[in-house]
Amino acid sequence: MRTIIKNIGLLATAKGTAALRGEAQGALQMTMDTYVVIENGIIVEVGANASTKDLFAATGENVVDAQGLLVTPGLVDAHTHLIFAGWRQHEFALKLQGMSYLDILAAGGGIISSVNNTRKASVADLVTQGKTALSTMLEYGTTTCEVKSGYGLTVADEIKSLRAIRELATLQPVDLVPTFMGAHAVPPEFKERSDDYVRLVCQEMIPAVAREKLAEFCDVFCEQGVFSVEQAAKILECGLRYGLMPKVHADEITSLGGAELAGRVKAISAEHLIHADDAGLTALAEAGVIAVLLPGTSFYLGESFARARDMMDKGIPVAIASDFNPGSCPNESLQIPMNIACLKYRMTPEEVITAVTLNGAAAINRAHFCGSIEPGKQGDLIIWNAKDLPFLFYHWGPNQVRTVIKNGHLVLNKC
Ligand code: NIG
Ligand code: FE
Repeated sequence: MRTIIKNIGLLATAKGTAALRGEAQGALQMTMDTYVVIENGIIVEVGANASTKDLFAATGENVVDAQGLLVTPGLVDAHTHLIFAGWRQHEFALKLQGMSYLDILAAGGGIISSVNNTRKASVADLVTQGKTALSTMLEYGTTTCEVKSGYGLTVADEIKSLRAIRELATLQPVDLVPTFMGAHAVPPEFKERSDDYVRLVCQEMIPAVAREKLAEFCDVFCEQGVFSVEQAAKILECGLRYGLMPKVHADEITSLGGAELAGRVKAISAEHLIHADDAGLTALAEAGVIAVLLPGTSFYLGESFARARDMMDKGIPVAIASDFNPGSCPNESLQIPMNIACLKYRMTPEEVITAVTLNGAAAINRAHFCGSIEPGKQGDLIIWNAKDLPFLFYHWGPNQVRTVIKNGHLVLNKC
């Protein structure tokens, strides 16, 4: 099957098969008046001077008219927690009264309240709720998405969550990349016995996940009152022995040394990093760890914002993701984090596009497959209701996606 996207006013894409850092992160390739040809799901041609070519549909070809609009790669959301049951709107009032995220968690709410609901849910329940979230994500331009487990916290419930991710991957168009996050919180039955829970994660959960090949990455919430740096290191090193690449929820709410840990274990990514200190940033830069930043979460928690510019100055590749979850960021759209990244991180629109495409793909080990529009990559493209990049970032709030093409298929078209 061939799909031709013609009449592209401006094509903006990062290039390559690895994360971009420093100045390269902001140096997008911008081509005017172009077209893209996708064959059997893979981009085969990015052509110039589209307006002087005859790009009519032959038999077996689909032609999509971009009508002079802006086209970018499909968005890659490198950090989500979309497998959960129920929502937590009852915590919103507590939050508005000034109760902090960690206080709500310590009182048995927060993640633990989602754990209680998720344990009661079946795979089918989780799939139904996940499918709704993914269809919203797709509408907002996400074509590849990492998904963490972490609301089960027993061997059976973590496996159940990861199986739900596997099933979801077959039921809708967004590509899913699974991460095991059994160390998302200490479950109530292990209260005051977190070392015993770490043993359960290492001795039973990780081997069970690896046996069924249910995940590619292992993530840990390294945070005050959750898992210490030492406990997180044990879990990540164990994951590595079972072939799971390390990721770390690092320095999200307190500065605990998570970024340094990510450097030490050579994690593929360190995520959040709101309170990462200079030593942490140096560790990330030296180990080549990708910083996955979640500006929607800073906004929603009323926290400060990660030091994105310092990170980029130090040569750390920056990705931006949604952190979609029922607590700290109940928002499926990557477009709002993209806007906030400009306004609060002071990133340029070009740097942000790289952050939500190629660098996001690299943070989930997919940079060879997606994240840019060039021959050999998956045919994942967005046609925006915008003619240029500044408009996309300056106009915020409404969904600006006009058309989504996934693996060469027209999966959403609003014109
Ligand atoms: O990335 N920090 C830990 N995990 C999520 C929040 C999960 C929740 O509140 O349900 C986060 O912020
Ligand atoms: Fe998270």
